[in-house]
Amino acid sequence: MAKLIDGKLISAQVKDECRERVAKEGLDVTLAVIQVGNDPASTVYVGNKKKACEYIGIHSLSYELPEETTEEELLALVEKLNQDDSVHGILVQLPLPSHIDEDKVIQKISPMKDVDGFHPQSVGALSIGEPGFVSCTPAGVIQLLKRSGVKIDGSECVIVGRSNIVGKPMAMLMLRENATVTVCHSHTKDLKEVTKRADILIVAVGRPRFITREYVKEGAVVIDVGIHRNEDNKLCGDVDFADVEPVASAITPVPGGVGPMTIAMLMNNCVEAKGIQNA
Ligand code: GUN
Repeated sequence: MAKLIDGKLISAQVKDECRERVAKEGLDVTLAVIQVGNDPASTVYVGNKKKACEYIGIHSLSYELPEETTEEELLALVEKLNQDDSVHGILVQLPLPSHIDEDKVIQKISPMKDVDGFHPQSVGALSIGEPGFVSCTPAGVIQLLKRSGVKIDGSECVIVGRSNIVGKPMAMLMLRENATVTVCHSHTKDLKEVTKRADILIVAVGRPRFITREYVKEGAVVIDVGIHRNEDNKLCGDVDFADVEPVASAITPVPGGVGPMTIAMLMNNCVEAKGIQNA
């Protein structure tokens, strides 16, 4: 029986720490959230981010822009928020409509307000060990591991997936924690042989129940970043939980594992943003 790594509990701890800091230090923190169009999943995510802000005591400014918004209009709004000293964090919900260049928009956000950690300057800072905002999902995985007592230092960590938002920053963070890191992707030969070396296996491939027990070493810690709906409309991850759980020493469930950590770490980044801008 694997230990369940409880993302609901750990995310609540992180959020409560943020809430206490905001109250104790009397911090006046504002996050601007921009959504372009009506993608239903984005609407749910944005709603959850606003609710979390309310809980912590962070003001949220909501910009719900129509699908037809031009790139120039969006860039102008970001620039206006960059210049506004009363705004500490800027979040542009992705994906953006196809007529807008996401990279251009991300690059427009001031690195001082880049609470998503997606700006090239934030990514570069992470890779050379300089201070900067870290992408929320991988930062959340580090918190899950540390707060569950998993030893990262000296471990063999295998990451499946190399996205800019999860796989690559995850590799940098695990390196920073002194793990030996391997990043796998669709061109990796003999994937099972590689994943079976992992003491800590982090999966972000975006394929439902892709990782079965043949990919997992006995006693490994398994972190599942995926989230999908299965054929019965129930949530599942990139890991086949029922199959892998008996061989793992610890595992994150879906839902209730990595998912809730993303917003908790966003809240943490917002509080940090206020700290940096006040310094
Ligand atoms: N879309 C899905 N996840 C995210 C996220 O973490 N940040 C932003 N900005 N958009 C997303």
